[in-house]
Amino acid sequence: GKYVTVKKDSCIACGSCGASAPDIFDFDDDGLAEVIYEGDNNRGVTLIAADLQEDLQDAIDSCPTSCIKTSANAFA
Ligand code: F3S
Repeated sequence: GKYVTVKKDSCIACGSCGASAPDIFDFDDDGLAEVIYEGDNNRGVTLIAADLQEDLQDAIDSCPTSCIKTSANAFA
């Protein structure tokens, strides 16, 4: 499994992540992407379920600014 967060300072709000993985990403009130999965609130502390790994990888691959970060450990 993986933990995920969006580095919002690099997000250009292209929307690809939410299109690829709508269960993981959505726009915040400022129009930037964030992790909404299971109430994570972009903290990167919620393990993404195995059945969403493919969607997650599609989102990462589609992000033009590479601002979706993953880790095997929860982000602090
Ligand atoms: Fe932003 Fe990348 Fe998603 S630019 S909207 S995090 S695909």
